[in-house]
Amino acid sequence: MKVRGTVRPPGDKSISHRALMLAALAGGGKGTSELEGLLTGADVKSTARVLRQLGGEISSIRDDTKVVVHASRISHPASRLHCGNSGTTARLMLGILAGQKFAATLTGDASLRRRPMRRVTEPLRAMGAEITEGRGDALPLTIRGGRLRALTYTTPVASAQIKSALLLAGLTGGVAVTIREPYRSRDHTERLLAYLGLGLHERDGAIVYEPAPEARALVPAFRLAVPGDASSAAFLVGAAALAEGGELVIENVGVNPTRTGFLVVLARMGAHVDRVNLRDAGGEPVADLVVRPGGGALRGTEVSAAEVPTLVDEVPMLAVLASRAEGETVFREVGELRVKESNRLELIAANLRVLGVEAEARGNDLHVCGTTRPPRGRVDTARDHRLAMAFAVLGTLPGADVRLSEKGSVAISYPRFFRDLKAIGVG
Ligand code: S3P
Repeated sequence: MKVRGTVRPPGDKSISHRALMLAALAGGGKGTSELEGLLTGADVKSTARVLRQLGGEISSIRDDTKVVVHASRISHPASRLHCGNSGTTARLMLGILAGQKFAATLTGDASLRRRPMRRVTEPLRAMGAEITEGRGDALPLTIRGGRLRALTYTTPVASAQIKSALLLAGLTGGVAVTIREPYRSRDHTERLLAYLGLGLHERDGAIVYEPAPEARALVPAFRLAVPGDASSAAFLVGAAALAEGGELVIENVGVNPTRTGFLVVLARMGAHVDRVNLRDAGGEPVADLVVRPGGGALRGTEVSAAEVPTLVDEVPMLAVLASRAEGETVFREVGELRVKESNRLELIAANLRVLGVEAEARGNDLHVCGTTRPPRGRVDTARDHRLAMAFAVLGTLPGADVRLSEKGSVAISYPRFFRDLKAIGVG
């Protein structure tokens, strides 16, 4: 099959969450922010819903419509804050709430209620937040913020959600925060804080937030054009890399180097992706991607532990491509995939095996052996959006018969996914 056309991925999920949160905190209750290109997926709507419960005034989040956020001082919510499927909402909101003088309870759907929260609550407690667990290391949690202490912290895992929660606690609590991480995770929070002039810098390899000398730093109201999501674009790139010919242009993709490890790995595997029209949007690099299928000649590779944070959400897509590459591909130290929206590490391997591919999780490594046999079988997505999209892409191969247990989960991060797959000629 040939790939064709020009497509724009949806707004970046990580940046959309952060933009909404900072806009809601702007001006200590004054000011209007305007956000363009925000993701309309369910996760971002969860953040908007939670911020509205706290008194944020946010216009409705619709395609091709600017979202307007009137800052209003955030206050005690009347009911529990439901974060839906969104780990970013839960963990970053814990940071924001740590600096507030009221109690709030956070919960989420069944998947989110299985995900670890102590990685965030432990350092927030060290800053002085009071947190009560309902069910151990998971949601629901009740947090009462207040007067916080400065924190210097080394995160045990490279996680932008931990780092961002602590930076946001520093911001709302008006205290300094210094963070070191084993490998650099996505840096959208740092870039947005710096773009807004909010006391963020790097010192000796650490990320440092220092509040302005006047008691509490004021977040200015702002305008932002959110770039397209590299993680959503990755599925289109993957579909194009598997096609037999043609050319695909993916416009307006965020190419922040903490997010584009999949392009580095794809180049090693022999795929051809060019970046053109490189520009800046709100402190984030943006480009158009041009993908030219190489006729199926992908090669297996080894993905190192240091690369993993730069492609952590792209492992499902890369694993699917590895199943069509010559030889073995190994993803080192991807144990974090066990605590994503599903146990991605086990489910990638199990689903590939169902489709006739040799694949296995060994300790924290994922091994995938390429094959030329058409993939056939039923895939359990576990309602995980990225598993659904990755295996849907595998299903575009000639002779494939990949049946997904459900497709609705794509609405979490890429509501138009199946329409876009059709539009580029492979769906
Ligand atoms: C995200 C960080 C990553 C990523 C998630 C979004 C963010 O999670 O997997 O999809 O927006 O900060 P971790 O911080 O758990 O690695």
